[in-house]
Amino acid sequence: MKKILITGGAGFIGSHVVRRFVKRYPDLNIFNLDALTYAGNLENIKDIENQPNYVFIKGDITDADFINSLFNEHKFEGVIHLAAESHVDRSITDPLAFVKTNVIGTMNLLNAFRDLWKDNYDGKRFYHVSTDEVYGTLGTEGLFTETTPYSPNSPYSASKAASDHFVRAYGETYGLPYVITNCSNNYGPNHFPEKLIPLFINNIINNKPLPVYGDGKYTRDWLYVEDHARAIDLVFHEGKNHETYNIGGFNEWQNIDLVKLLCTLMDVKLGRTEGESEKLITYVKDRPGHDLRYAIDASKINKELGWEPSVTFEQGLEKTIEWYLNNEEWLKNVTSGAYTEYYSKQYQ
Ligand code: NAD
Ligand code: DAU
Repeated sequence: MKKILITGGAGFIGSHVVRRFVKRYPDLNIFNLDALTYAGNLENIKDIENQPNYVFIKGDITDADFINSLFNEHKFEGVIHLAAESHVDRSITDPLAFVKTNVIGTMNLLNAFRDLWKDNYDGKRFYHVSTDEVYGTLGTEGLFTETTPYSPNSPYSASKAASDHFVRAYGETYGLPYVITNCSNNYGPNHFPEKLIPLFINNIINNKPLPVYGDGKYTRDWLYVEDHARAIDLVFHEGKNHETYNIGGFNEWQNIDLVKLLCTLMDVKLGRTEGESEKLITYVKDRPGHDLRYAIDASKINKELGWEPSVTFEQGLEKTIEWYLNNEEWLKNVTSGAYTEYYSKQYQ
């Protein structure tokens, strides 16, 4: 059986990608490599842990010797690389952690893949999962396309941009067969509650303040996570080597409007009177270097591969809220211990 390595498969997006591949491709042997940092959680993929075509490996992509021996042992023919430090706010307090995982970690994977296959890359593929944040910020007009120049503004996006550049450079220099996708903001089940949507759902449930950064007029383009996983599947199987594809939701929301919508939906779900949750909105100090607006032009992946989002924002938010309300135990587990410390430092 062909062995495929997926990194970061215990995290938010990775868990949806791993599940999709394990279920849809019984002829592929899916290896999930994850260091299980604070963001990684085996509960996210518990339902597939006993599948015959699935293997979990706990390990760190920053450890070059470990990565090299893993590649030599298993001879992975495909890599889908999602493991990363992913939260902008954490990158502002600890930028070096982002360089280590996102840059050095990606380099280790690239080196191991190149050393294994350099004599014959036929049928092999290195898929690097990246973000729209590498393009920097938009003003009120325009969209990010695949040719928008890179202009990252946070240590997180700078580290992702650096990793994208290395992937591309390995393609040019060593002929490594790669594809890159740059996606907009995801939301959905298993999203760690340090990011806007799950953090605010959790705070609404617990009647805690909703910390809106700055004036709340920042704009993001939201995509349901399973639609991202579907795009990754499509690009992995049908994308062209040495190409980049942008993925987005065609779904722009100013933060404050999104937060108000969440409050309204949660009032109904929790049986609260209309407007009750909105009273929790609290404007707090802005994020340094806060990008004003992200919005993706996803016409290339649409035209070339026929992908488009399948879940509307209303449907996606409904599913997401339901999931969090039905998975209180998951939420309790991930918000105990180190999370409390992070939260009080970040929102003091
Ligand atoms: P996440 O933080 O939820 O998960 C990251 C996973 O990587 C975790 O399971 C963690 O344990 C693992 N990991 C971290 N460091 C590791 C290391 N050194 N070795 C091995 N595993 C390690 O992240 P996510 O939101 O699921 O994002 C996944 C990928 O998609 C990232 O590359 C991110 O840049 C990209 N992306 C995310 C979004 C988004 O909205 N969340 C949008 C576009 C692109
Ligand atoms: O665009 C893709 C990126 O989306 C991914 O690459 C990142 O991994 C992912 O974390 C996400 O980055 P953002 O910074 O856009 O997501 P976050 O959920 O942290 O913030 C969304 C918006 O909400 C942003 O404008 C900041 C704001 N915000 C966020 C938090 C956590 C608040 O106002 N208050 C908050 O407490």
